[in-house]
Amino acid sequence: MKVFLSVLCVFVISCLTTGCYYDNEEYLYGSCDTTTVTFSKDIKPILDANCINCHSGGSINLTTYDGVKAKVSDSTLYKSISYSYSGASSSKNMPSSGKLDDCSINKVKAWIDEGAINN
Ligand code: HEC
Repeated sequence: MKVFLSVLCVFVISCLTTGCYYDNEEYLYGSCDTTTVTFSKDIKPILDANCINCHSGGSINLTTYDGVKAKVSDSTLYKSISYSYSGASSSKNMPSSGKLDDCSINKVKAWIDEGAINN
C-alpha cells in the first residue's frame, strides 16, 4: 500500500508540474507557426544562436544570406539539421552537440520550401 501511495504521489506531482497534456512538448510544437517564416525574423536568429560559432567564414559561412543560400542550393543545410547523414558521414549532422528543436527545423524547412528568399 505504501509503495502504491508513493507511486501515485509521484504521478500526481509529475502531472501537476508537467501539465499532463496541454503543456507537453508535442502540443507546443504542434502550435509552431511556420506560415510566416522570414530569413531575418526566424532563420538568421536560429543560425546565429546555433551555427556561426563554427561557420563564420571559409567554405561554410552562415553569417550572411549568400553564405546560407549556397548551403541551401547544394542541399546540405537541411540535410545536416535534419540529421539525415548516416554511417561515416554522421559527423555532418548539425549541430554536432544535438539536434535543434523540431520547431526550428520545421521553420528552416518551410523557408527553404518557399524558395529560401532573402526576406
Ligand atoms: C561545434 C562546431 C559546429 C557547429 C556549432 C555547427 N557546425 Fe556545421 N560543421 C562543423 C564541422 C566540423 C563540419 C565538417 C563535418 C564533417 O565534414 O564531417 C561541419 C559541416 C557542416 C555542413 C556541411 C555538410 C556537408 O555535407 O558537407 C553544413 C551544411 C553545416 N555544417 C551546417 C551547420 C548548421 C546549419 C549548424 C547550426 C544548426 C552547424 N553547422 C553548427 C562544425 C560545426
